[in-house]
Amino acid sequence: MEQHDDAAGRHTPVLLQRCLDLLAPALAAPGAVMVDSTLGMGGHTEGVLRAFEHVRVVGIDRDPQALALAGRRLAVFGDRFTGVHAVYDEIRDVLDDLGIASVQGVLMDLGVSSLQLDEADRGFAYAQDAPLDMRMDPTRGPTAADVLNTYDERDIARVLRVYGEERFAPRIAREVVRRRAADPWRRTGELVDLVRACIPAATRKTGGHPAKRTFQALRIEVNGELAALERALPASVEALAVGGRIVVEAYQSLEDRLVKRALAAGATSSAPPDLPVEPETHTPYLRLLTRGAEEADEAELARNPRAQSVRLRAAERTRPTPDHLRTTRRAA
Ligand SMILES: C[S@@+](CC[C@H](N)C(=O)[O-])C[C@H]1O[C@@H](n2cnc3c(N)ncnc32)[C@H](O)[C@@H]1O
Repeated sequence: MEQHDDAAGRHTPVLLQRCLDLLAPALAAPGAVMVDSTLGMGGHTEGVLRAFEHVRVVGIDRDPQALALAGRRLAVFGDRFTGVHAVYDEIRDVLDDLGIASVQGVLMDLGVSSLQLDEADRGFAYAQDAPLDMRMDPTRGPTAADVLNTYDERDIARVLRVYGEERFAPRIAREVVRRRAADPWRRTGELVDLVRACIPAATRKTGGHPAKRTFQALRIEVNGELAALERALPASVEALAVGGRIVVEAYQSLEDRLVKRALAAGATSSAPPDLPVEPETHTPYLRLLTRGAEEADEAELARNPRAQSVRLRAAERTRPTPDHLRTTRRAA
């Protein structure tokens, strides 16, 4: 089989059974629709389509290659699956275009896919020399090389510190800017060499691959990942019918913090604490389904190394969002 066609073989969906169990009560509704906002290679979507025979899935991905692969994998499900090329914060527009007012489930499995990491040419992996690209949607937007060649030193340092939690961000940023004056940035291998040279030998021994944090930071910046997630969470909750459920799997602390905050906001009373009686308008509109963030157990980790850092959170919509809290358009 050609490597690209083997979508199922290249990615084991993380915590699939747990996702299915959490979504099950909502997806039992007749005519239920679920949005898989991070379709990837379609692993979770295939699990949903097999487990719930009446459910329709709308699969969103910003990566055209992922959509093509997943589309081939899911063709056997006919019109129960619809793939859409979009960024996940566009969920309301995607549903409007399909004439869908509200949905019973939203699933988000954040970050990069193994497909993207494995495709050497896309520049996501520090282990392979490749062009400094890192765009999940290679049809638009600046590349990692553009960031390194055009941002000023302070902004590069900020990206590395905030998105990569890189202790040596100022030193790396200084060297990035110094080097580009003579020769613009082009290849991941050159960046790996520079980062390695900027991190003291003693730290290099303990901190995992020295370029890991720099690559994560650039990927987040290039794809505007945190801003898209911050918009997508309320928009996704808003797309849920009452009784609908959202499940989110995050793989790094900045994303998990946004998920935690967005779900907690809906699950907490918005009444001022000193009111003697909570007005009906201020009662929560979400019920948390997970206590804190769930992690993978030993069995899952043995099956799937990608589950190592997963943090899963889920919630159920219990009533419409009150007007004074709505920041996004309501379902039609
Ligand atoms: C971890 S993979 C999903 C894997 C999938 N659950 C499976 O089982 O095959 C994440 C996918 O989400 C996509 N993605 C990440 N951020 C996105 C965004 N803001 N909008 C749309 N798709 C996004 C990536 O392109 C990638 O294909």
